[in-house]
Amino acid sequence: MALFGHASEVGIATLVDRFYDKVRADAQLGPVFNQAIEDWPGHKVILRDFWSSLVLRSRRYHGNPMGVHRALPAFPQALFHRWLALWRETAREVFEAPAADLFIGTAERVAQGLSLGLEMGRLTVDPPSRIVGPLHIVP
Ligand code: HEM
Repeated sequence: MALFGHASEVGIATLVDRFYDKVRADAQLGPVFNQAIEDWPGHKVILRDFWSSLVLRSRRYHGNPMGVHRALPAFPQALFHRWLALWRETAREVFEAPAADLFIGTAERVAQGLSLGLEMGRLTVDPPSRIVGPLHIVP
């Protein structure tokens, strides 16, 4: 039985709290997050604002998620699957469907965008590659 029937500020705070507690303790995600984040309470406040802006239209979040993730040391794309698996699990603990599905679908779309953006960033920011093969792309 989930805790909340509908999306709300208190529900979002609960979701963010539980999700990032799992992330910190996770074998795959924990090291990446714990390396980058010193102020966990502060991170959770930003993430509450982010989700409240997306789902409740509160307009409290004014950040740049793509820029923030691009500034992180590169991490494997496969971590997005782990991130989403934990998010789905936690969203269903906290919210009944269809609210849980709203948080899950929104996260899936943002994850797609971030993942694509990070890959594109790597393609354009890294030194030009020397593909010596049938294509012969050499700078
Ligand atoms: C494997 C995937 C991901 C990793 C490793 C990751 C890692 C991180 C880390 C380490 C930070 C803190 C950066 C800092 O404070 O310097 C951060 C911030 C953030 N992340 Fe992620 N993230 C991932 C996926 C996602 C997804 C899917 C979402 C949204 C659905 C998301 C939303 C955010 C937001 C909103 C912030 C705060 C940005 C700000 O400071 O304005 N992240 N992430």
